[in-house]
Amino acid sequence: MCGIFGCVSRDAEVAPIIHAALKRLEYRGYDSVGIATVHGGKIYIKKDEGKIDQVHRIHNLDDLPGSIGVGHTRWATHGAPYQANAHPHTDCNDEIAVVHNGIIENFAELKTELENSGHKFRSKTDTEVIPHLIEENMRKGLGLLEATREALKRLKGSYAIAVISIHEPEKIICARMESPLVLGVGKDAVYCASDIPAFLPLTNRAVIIENGELAILQADGYEIRSLEDWRLIQREAETIEWTAEMAEKQGYPHFMLKEIHEQPDCLRNTLRLQDQYLDLMATFLDRAGEVFLVAAGTSYHACLAASYMFSKLAYLATHPVIASEFIEQQGMAINIDSTILAVSQSGETADTLAAVDYARLRAATILGLTNVVGSTLTRVSRAYRVQQSGPEIGVAATKTFTSQLSVLAQLALRVAKIRGKIGHRQIEEIEEKIKQVPEIVERTIKKNEAKAKEIAKKFKDKSAFFFLGRGISSATAMEGRLKLMEIAYIPSIAFPAGESKHGPISLIEPGFPVVFICPRDETRKTIIGNIMEMKARGATIISVIEEGDEEIKKLSDEYFEVPSGLPEILSPIAFIVPLQLMAYYIAVEKGLNPDKPRNLAKSVTVK
Ligand code: F6R
Repeated sequence: MCGIFGCVSRDAEVAPIIHAALKRLEYRGYDSVGIATVHGGKIYIKKDEGKIDQVHRIHNLDDLPGSIGVGHTRWATHGAPYQANAHPHTDCNDEIAVVHNGIIENFAELKTELENSGHKFRSKTDTEVIPHLIEENMRKGLGLLEATREALKRLKGSYAIAVISIHEPEKIICARMESPLVLGVGKDAVYCASDIPAFLPLTNRAVIIENGELAILQADGYEIRSLEDWRLIQREAETIEWTAEMAEKQGYPHFMLKEIHEQPDCLRNTLRLQDQYLDLMATFLDRAGEVFLVAAGTSYHACLAASYMFSKLAYLATHPVIASEFIEQQGMAINIDSTILAVSQSGETADTLAAVDYARLRAATILGLTNVVGSTLTRVSRAYRVQQSGPEIGVAATKTFTSQLSVLAQLALRVAKIRGKIGHRQIEEIEEKIKQVPEIVERTIKKNEAKAKEIAKKFKDKSAFFFLGRGISSATAMEGRLKLMEIAYIPSIAFPAGESKHGPISLIEPGFPVVFICPRDETRKTIIGNIMEMKARGATIISVIEEGDEEIKKLSDEYFEVPSGLPEILSPIAFIVPLQLMAYYIAVEKGLNPDKPRNLAKSVTVK
């Protein structure tokens, strides 16, 4: 997730306008920033790594000439955050400048093709292929518009782009495929942006650009065309009533709810991962003497789920370890044959990094999974994968958890392929199912939001909860418990359901809420037994079931339904969603701010 912005004005200098708009988009990414303008037959660019204010202090982003320009605030996906990788990117002669949000999946092959035709690349980004493709098309005699259209036909993946050029210095061309893009229509200027808040103080008249559409902006108006058949699309601007704060959250009352709703898109992004990185990590895992999955909090729960994935798909035993315990618990066992897969959304969690540092000193191989390119974890890992979720503002991890699970499942499948322990057909089936996960999560949110609100009203005053699951669902249970505890402040306990009768069941008295996670997998029969045990002692049962599971429905006082069809190892990705919603709505019912739970920080950089 990055933020793009473009502005074409009748007569104003646009650099300060773009700078201010990028500040309002900073929540979409903040590892580097850049602005390009066109003036007097030349493209002017200022860009660098760092937060917008830092870069502005060094370069003065307001000081670029011209009344047309584009800007970008970055959340790195391809290429670490340093100056050459910051947007805008240009063609060989600096005549075309492009900003881009999204992921170009086939950039490697396009880059090779363009390099073979003599194009010189300056960055490691996927984006840079776009200005070179446009340049190449213009070399063949096409005008800027046609050259851009032809370039877009070559791209696979997602994009929202804005293009300026010295060849047609009065216009911005922008286009959208799966990444958001919206126009703002002012009195003397037209804007394009990733999101409405970017231009909201300037105009509240907005035009949403749909997938597969291109728009041409000039100071006096805009034209929208279908990329497919070049049909002219008439679309009037609508008036946006949101305040700037509401707009930043896209109309959601809290970032956490916005981020829960972003999960289908984030999961789609995880499917755009480049194979070679996962393949490399899979090779390390396959060859390892011993594998440790190391993380804290929610990321640890992802590791716990991953240990079931690796074992069931690849017959690979792994040790999930809480990062703060790693050195004490496993330290002496680490050696040159050990592989540590460290999972950290921020890539900066002190406990995780301390474990990694320790393991490095003992010559172990470090692999990383993180959401932040350029984070310490990416720098200390032998190989790493970025999960592409975009910044998560809510303190409670939601979208980053489900994306971690998706990446880990893909990784486990790759190890499975190398090891050949399960059949090709089963691997293909799961690969097919991973593609369906975003849509299943989308339906899960729709189906359960009203129910979560209802349950929240009924249960908000309970003084404790149990969360129980078996197999991989015990990881879902732990994550469901953490969400409820951290944002709604309700003490909760989670453990594999089989443990109940070894102690915890003594807490149960009539009306005690027990949440059961019940996918239709091998554990279902036994979990029904566990539900019966709890019911017999008067517990109130809240179950998360697959659609149409009438048997468990009948045993439950309340239930959430998840669309059926996901294999066991993918089930946590969908089954956690109703529990995220339940925790969120209970916090709201209690008058708490779920985005900023007390005593917690988004990134824990102390041990
Ligand atoms: C819970 C939460 C924390 C983090 C933990 C690790 O909602 O956000 O438990 O998961 O602090 O953070 P990362 O993944 O950044 O290492």
